[in-house]
Amino acid sequence: MLYNKAVLSAALLSAAAAPAMAASSSSANSTATATSSSSIPSGCSLGSSATMTAQADLDKIAGCTELSGNLTITGDIGSAALANVKKLDGSLRLYNATDLVNFSADSLTVITGGLTLQELTVLNSASFGSLQQVDSITLLTLPAIDTFITNLQKANNIQVSDTTLESVDGFSTLKEVAELNINNNRNLASFNSSLQTVSDSLQISFNAESTQVSFNDLIWANNITLRDVESATFPKLETVNASLGFINNTIANISLAKLTKVGQTLSVTSNDELTYLDCSNLTSIGGGFVVANNTKLADISGFSNLQTIAGAVIVTGNFSTLDLSSLKSVRGGATIETSASNFSCSAIKKLQSNGAIQGDSFVCKNGAVSSSSSISSTSSGSRTSSNARSTSNANAAVSASGSSSAGSSSSTKSKKSKGVAAQDFASVNSVMGAVAAVAMALL
Ligand SMILES: *[C@@H]1O[C@H](CO)[C@@H](O)[C@H](O)[C@H]1NC(C)=O
Ligand SMILES: *[C@@H]1O[C@H](CO)[C@@H](O)[C@H](O)[C@H]1NC(C)=O
Ligand SMILES: *[C@@H]1O[C@H](CO)[C@@H](O)[C@H](O)[C@H]1NC(C)=O
Ligand SMILES: *[C@@H]1O[C@H](CO)[C@@H](O)[C@H](O)[C@H]1NC(C)=O
Ligand SMILES: *[C@@H]1O[C@H](CO)[C@@H](O)[C@H](O)[C@H]1NC(C)=O
Ligand SMILES: *[C@@H]1O[C@H](CO)[C@@H](O)[C@H](O)[C@H]1NC(C)=O
Ligand SMILES: *[C@@H]1O[C@H](CO)[C@@H](O)[C@H](O)[C@H]1NC(C)=O
Ligand SMILES: *[C@@H]1O[C@H](CO)[C@@H](O)[C@H](O)[C@H]1NC(C)=O
Ligand SMILES: *[C@@H]1O[C@H](CO)[C@@H](O)[C@H](O)[C@H]1NC(C)=O
Ligand SMILES: *[C@@H]1O[C@H](CO)[C@@H](O)[C@H](O)[C@H]1NC(C)=O
Ligand SMILES: *[C@@H]1O[C@H](CO)[C@@H](O)[C@H](O)[C@H]1NC(C)=O
Ligand SMILES: *[C@@H]1O[C@H](CO)[C@@H](O)[C@H](O)[C@H]1NC(C)=O
Repeated sequence: MLYNKAVLSAALLSAAAAPAMAASSSSANSTATATSSSSIPSGCSLGSSATMTAQADLDKIAGCTELSGNLTITGDIGSAALANVKKLDGSLRLYNATDLVNFSADSLTVITGGLTLQELTVLNSASFGSLQQVDSITLLTLPAIDTFITNLQKANNIQVSDTTLESVDGFSTLKEVAELNINNNRNLASFNSSLQTVSDSLQISFNAESTQVSFNDLIWANNITLRDVESATFPKLETVNASLGFINNTIANISLAKLTKVGQTLSVTSNDELTYLDCSNLTSIGGGFVVANNTKLADISGFSNLQTIAGAVIVTGNFSTLDLSSLKSVRGGATIETSASNFSCSAIKKLQSNGAIQGDSFVCKNGAVSSSSSISSTSSGSRTSSNARSTSNANAAVSASGSSSAGSSSSTKSKKSKGVAAQDFASVNSVMGAVAAVAMALL
C-alpha cells in the first residue's frame, strides 16, 4: 500500500525475527499458530483466534477476501496493513503495539465482531476506508491518533475514550446505534452525527471544554447524558425513553423544542453558562424533574407545557421566573430554591395546595428568606422588605408540609388527601430515592 520503503523494510525485518521468537519462546504460541502455514490458507480460517506481530504475518492472509477468527495484532510491528480482506467473521483487535504508527485495512467492509484499537501509544492514523458494518468499535487510549477513517453504516456499540482525535468523522454517517460513548478525548473539537436513533445510551462527557456536538437527525434515544460540551443541538429530538441529563456543561443554549416526553429523570444541573432552556413541547417526565445550580439561568419558562412529573421536582439556582403553568400532577415532593429575592412562590404554592404536588416534602424559598425558619408564623401578607427576614412564602412552604402531617381538621377533603398521601408515602419515598440515585448516577 502506501507505506514507504524504510517503514516496510523495518516491518519485514521484524517479520523475519518473529518466527524465530515464536520458535524459541513458549509465550508466542498464538503467533506460531498464525504463522504456521497450514492453518491459514485452508478457508482462510484463523482457528478461534490468532495473534500477529509482524507485517509478514499479515501478508500471509493478504490473499484471503474472507477471513474467520479473532485476530489480534500486537508487538513491535511498526506499520501494518491488512490488504484485500473484505470480510472478517470474528473480531479485530490492535492492542499494545507500541511502535505502530499507521494501520490500514481499506478493503475491509464487514467485521462481524468488534473492532478494538487499544493502547497504541504512537498510532497516528487508522484507516478502514470501506468499513460499513461492525458490531462494536472501541478506541481506547490512543494518545497520538489524529485520523480514524471508516465508512460506517451500521454498528451497535461505539466507545471512543482517551484519544487525541479532534473529530470523530468515522461515525458521522451512522443512522442508528445501541450505544455511543465518547469521553475523555481532550482534543475533541466537534462531533456532528447523523444518528436517528440510539436504542441504549448516548454519552458525551469529559472531552475538551469546548466540544461542540450536533445531533441534527436524532429523533429518539433511550438515554442521553452530556457533560463538558460547549454546544449541542437536537432539533428533531422527540423522545428520550429513559433519562436525559445535561451536567456541568459550558453550554449557553439548550433548545429541545420538539421534545415531548422524557421516560425517566430529566436533569439540567451545574451548567454555569446556561441562559436559555427551551423544552416548550415537553408534556411528561417519567422520573424526577431536576433543574439545579445553573447559576446564570434567570428565566425558567421553557417548561410551560409540562403536565406530569412521576418523580420529584427539584429546581434550584438564581432564577426569577419559573413557569410550570400546565403542571397537573407531581407524584413526588418539590424543592424550589432560588437566590433571587424577587421570585414568588405563590404559583408553586397553589399547585401544592390544590393537590397537584402529591409528595410530602415541599420547600419553596427565595433569596429574601433566611435559613432560620419560624414555622408557627403563618399570617399571610406579613412579608417585609428586609432581606434577612422570613417571608410568608417560606412560612407557607414549611407550614404546608407541617400541617399535612398534623392533620388538624377532619374535612372530607383532607381525609381524602391524607388517604392518598398515606397510600403514596412509600412510593413517593422510593421515587425520591430513585431521583436521588439517578441524580447521583448522572453526577
Ligand atoms: C503455550 O504453549 C505451552 C507449551 O506448549 C502451553 O503449556 C500453554 O498452555 C500454551 N498457551 C496458550 C495460551 O496456548
Ligand atoms: C471470537 O471471540 C468471541 C468472544 O470474544 C467468540 O464468541 C467467538 O466465537 C470467537 N470467534 C471465533 C471465530 O472463534
Ligand atoms: C506491551 O508490550 C510490551 C512489549 O512490546 C510488553 O513489555 C508489555 O508487557 C505489554 N503490556 C501489556 C499490558 O500487555
Ligand atoms: C502514516 O499515514 C500518513 C497519512 O495518513 C502519512 O502521511 C504518513 O507518512 C504515514 N506514516 C508512516 C510512518 O507510514
Ligand atoms: C460540525 O458542524 C459545524 C457546524 O456546521 C462545523 O463548524 C464543524 O466543522 C463540523 N465538524 C466536523 C468534524 O465536521
Ligand atoms: C423510544 O421511544 C420511541 C418513540 O416513542 C419508540 O419508537 C422507541 O421504540 C422507544 N425505544 C425504546 C428502546 O424503548
Ligand atoms: C439507560 O437506560 C436504561 C434503562 O432503559 C438504564 O438501565 C441504564 O442504566 C441507563 N444508562 C445510563 C448511562 O443512564
Ligand atoms: C465540573 O467541571 C469542572 C472542570 O471542567 C470540575 O472541576 C468540576 O468538579 C465539575 N463539577 C461537577 C459537579 O461535576
Ligand atoms: C437557541 O438555539 C435555538 C436552536 O438552535 C435557536 O432557535 C434559538 O434562537 C437560540 N436561542 C438563543 C437565546 O440563543
Ligand atoms: C409541538 O408539538 C406539536 C404537536 O404535539 C407540534 O404540532 C408542534 O409543531 C411542536 N412544536 C415544535 C416547536 O416542534
Ligand atoms: C447544587 O449546589 C449545591 C452547593 O454547591 C449542592 O449542595 C447541591 O447538591 C447541588 N445540587 C445538585 C442537584 O447538584
Ligand atoms: C443572581 O443573579 C443576579 C443578577 O440576576 C446577580 O446580581 C446575583 O449576584 C446572582 N446571585 C448569585 C448567588 O449568583
